[in-house]
Amino acid sequence: MNDLDQAVLRRALPGWVTELRYFSQTDSTNRQAAAWAQAGAPHGSLVIADFQTAGRGRLGRRWLAPAGSSLLFSVVLRPGWDPQLFTLVSLAGAVALCECLEEKGIAAAVKWPNDVLIGERKVSGILAEAAAGVVVLGMGVNVKQERFPPEIQATATSLQASTGRRFDRSQLLAGLIRRLASLVDGPAPAVVDRYRRWCETLGRWVRVDGSYGPVEDRAVDVDSTGALILEHGDIVRAGDVYQIG
Ligand code: BTN
Repeated sequence: MNDLDQAVLRRALPGWVTELRYFSQTDSTNRQAAAWAQAGAPHGSLVIADFQTAGRGRLGRRWLAPAGSSLLFSVVLRPGWDPQLFTLVSLAGAVALCECLEEKGIAAAVKWPNDVLIGERKVSGILAEAAAGVVVLGMGVNVKQERFPPEIQATATSLQASTGRRFDRSQLLAGLIRRLASLVDGPAPAVVDRYRRWCETLGRWVRVDGSYGPVEDRAVDVDSTGALILEHGDIVRAGDVYQIG
C-alpha cells in the first residue's frame, strides 16, 4: 500500500491544514508552495510530493530522495510574528520533528540551525524561504532508505535504517504538522526555548564557514531570532557550522 495515498493523508492530517496539493512527482515542493503562496495560498496550505526532480537544499544545494522513500513537503505559513523572527520557522520545523520522534522513542538532535540528526547522521533537511509576509517551510525526512548515494553514505540515515522499524509516512506527517502548527501559531520566544533543548551544537566547539567565517569558538546560545551566539561575542546568522569538539 502507498502510505502517501491522498485519501489516507486527508484522513490523517489535522484540520489546521487548510488546503492540500499532492504530487506523485514534481520539481520541488518549495517551488510549488512559493508559487501558490504568491497566488494567495492561506496559512496552513500544504504541498506534498512522493518524488522531486529538482529538490532544493540549503545554500544552493540539491536534495535527492528516491520515489517512495521520504516525506517531502512544504507548508505555506503566515505567522503572526514580527517578520524579523521568520528565521525561527525553520527552527520550529526541527523542534517539531525532534518532538515527534521522541514520542516514537527515537532520540534525535539538531545541529544548528536545522539539520535533524540521529546519532551523527542527518535524517532530515529543512529549507525555509521567506518573502513578503509569508514563509514556505520545506522539509525532507528520510523515512525508508536503506542505502544512500556514495557522497552522503557516511553522513545520512533514515528512520528505518537507524531503528530497524517501519514507519507510515502519512501518520508521521500528521504528527509533525500538529506540532508545527502549535509552534508557529504560538509565541515566537517559545520556539527558541523549545529549540534549546534539542540543539546539540550548544556548548560545543564549532568552526563556522560561509558568509560569516571562518572562525572557531564555543557555541553558547541562540538569540531571539535563532542566530547562534559564540562565546567571544560573534553572532552567526547563516553558514555551515562544523561541530569540532
Ligand atoms: C538541506 O539542505 O538540508 C535542506 C533540504 C530541504 C529539502 C526539502 S524536501 C521538501 C522541500 N522541497 C524542496 O525543494 N526542498 C525541501
